Amino acid sequence: MKNDLSENPFRTSLLEENDGPGRNPTGNRTMGDIIAARFSRRGFLRGSLAVSAIAATVSPIALITADNARAAGGSAFSFEEVEAGVDETHHVAAGYDADILLRWGDALFADSPEFDPAAQSAAAQAKQFGYNNDYVGFIPIDGSSEHGLLVVNHEYTNPHLMFPGIVTVVEKDGKKKLDVAPLSREQVDVEMAAHGGTIVEIRRDGGKWQVVRDGKLNRRITATTEMEVTGPVAGNDRLKTSADATGTKVFGTVNNCAGGVTPWGTYVMAEENIHGYFSGELPADHKEAANYERMGIPEGAYEWAAFYDRFDLSKEPNEANRFGWIVEVDVQDPTSAPKKRTALGRFKHEGAESIVSKDGRVVFYLGDDERFDYVYKFVTAGAYNANDRTANLNLLDEGTLYVAKFSEDGSVEWLPLVFGQGPLTAENGFSNQADVLIETRRAADLLEATKMDRPEDVQPNGVNGKVYVMLTNNTKRKSDQVDAANPRAENAFGHIIEIAEDGGDFTATKGKWEVLLKCGDPSVAEVGATFSTSTTANGWFGMPDNCAVDSAGRLWVSTDGQGPKATGRTDGLWAVDTEGEARATSKLFFRVPVGAEMCGPLFTPDDQTAFVAVQHPADGGDDWEGFGRLSYYEDLSTHWPDFKPDMPVRPSVVVITRQGGGKIAV
Ligand code: FEO
Ligand code: CA
Ligand code: CA
Ligand code: CA
Repeated sequence: MKNDLSENPFRTSLLEENDGPGRNPTGNRTMGDIIAARFSRRGFLRGSLAVSAIAATVSPIALITADNARAAGGSAFSFEEVEAGVDETHHVAAGYDADILLRWGDALFADSPEFDPAAQSAAAQAKQFGYNNDYVGFIPIDGSSEHGLLVVNHEYTNPHLMFPGIVTVVEKDGKKKLDVAPLSREQVDVEMAAHGGTIVEIRRDGGKWQVVRDGKLNRRITATTEMEVTGPVAGNDRLKTSADATGTKVFGTVNNCAGGVTPWGTYVMAEENIHGYFSGELPADHKEAANYERMGIPEGAYEWAAFYDRFDLSKEPNEANRFGWIVEVDVQDPTSAPKKRTALGRFKHEGAESIVSKDGRVVFYLGDDERFDYVYKFVTAGAYNANDRTANLNLLDEGTLYVAKFSEDGSVEWLPLVFGQGPLTAENGFSNQADVLIETRRAADLLEATKMDRPEDVQPNGVNGKVYVMLTNNTKRKSDQVDAANPRAENAFGHIIEIAEDGGDFTATKGKWEVLLKCGDPSVAEVGATFSTSTTANGWFGMPDNCAVDSAGRLWVSTDGQGPKATGRTDGLWAVDTEGEARATSKLFFRVPVGAEMCGPLFTPDDQTAFVAVQHPADGGDDWEGFGRLSYYEDLSTHWPDFKPDMPVRPSVVVITRQGGGKIAV
């Protein structure tokens, strides 16, 4: 099968940017009548703003307006800022070490073969670190910040960067393009083994972090690992396939983007852009047609259906209902079946960061990364038991899933997605809670949730009690579709919302919210960015994606989507003040090599180590001055991190420590 890959070899643009029209057909909150109650007029863009127009000359009056929009105050972060820009390698602030800890293909077990890019096999890949590291979590061993399990999601694969001999450069409409040959079954198997996640023991010895190659809990999870379906959807007819008549056993997980570590020390993986893995057509008038349309299934970006019927909708019409969930892994038992926790809903899950509330129930914040889709939270029915780990292991099977409705008066309401309540009834095609969860998006549409600008990571902050919502961008939002929580039309650079739940209670069904930051270049008034005036030319960013809070409660934001035409800089990790005079001041701490995206980030509990994940380095280069050519296996825009001519580029986890020791940021 030769599919659209030959036209679109860059899965980054296919799957990461979610660059479609949006999948949400409803009219919820796109009305212009709730504009402007909360924000001054300077916060809104008038007319259109093409990304390429950002460098346009602006009037002095407009610049003054932009300055007024920014608050005064110096950064609370004392590190010396990195200069924004682009080159072949990574850069960290002066006085820090940024060492490669784990790269694609690195051995994880005593019997793992060494990485040989010219002779890849699925069997080897299944014992090696996977591709395109995204979420990074750390689970301490015996409470240590220098010894623990690193858990890492492997979101997707880029065949044009992974496999030799499959790319030809062709000229089409006067432009050079990559033509990618159909993948062989063996290459598809390598892709499947390069997906999923890694659990690996790591230890800091003599100041340097090392992988414990024979750690007894080391594990690879892939697109073929056997998993259980649990919660309200387990055993539902809509999940039954020819390989699984019970609707409870699924093989594998895909497109695990961000994620989380639960308070009880399990690893949760979010299944995001699942639509890309499915091809073929549903049988005529199939009952899942509307469900799949709302999820963009199938997209056919991957060629897996050519070799595996379960990814072909015409042959296995229910398989796609078995993806799009939050997956929980008990890292203490490497033989345990990971569990697809259906109570947390099915959509393009970005992440699953959690916090224990005052009464012990645990709250998971969830984003659905699509233009005009929603922010959710899940509140467990049971309480966390700090003294009995096993008592917590099925907490994720019972609880309430809520979707956010943001109002122009600065309030937010969390609306429960519960069968039988409001419109979630048989009249609207739901016969039980399983139906509500399988079609979470449609249920949320009916509740008139707020259509957001691509919700990415949503991070509760236990220190200041707030919740931070990364909204990465939405250039499809029209001026008559802006609302208070999504205040910019053609929102090219995204924004960050800060929520304060009522009474400081994360389980509350009401709260207040405000925009922490509208992103983009603050020196261009038309962009409407609201970084503080202390933010330097290096300090601003666009497209917030993953984020973390350190144990002092400070916010760190990593980005996806920089580039010469967008921001003139690479992706990176920025430290963002949220408190006092310095609020909305941002500083660049780390930047990635050309073509890469910044994922992770994560701090150890003692704040002395930060982990960041460099995803798809060398995926691009043609539009950067100084690179100026298409990038693929035989002609890469960078050979990071090995810089050896016979080694391909390798997505890697980088570990950052302060020279001489101490906390990363003071
Ligand atoms: Fe995989 Fe929403 O980023
Ligand atoms: Ca993401
Ligand atoms: Ca996070
Ligand atoms: Ca991303």
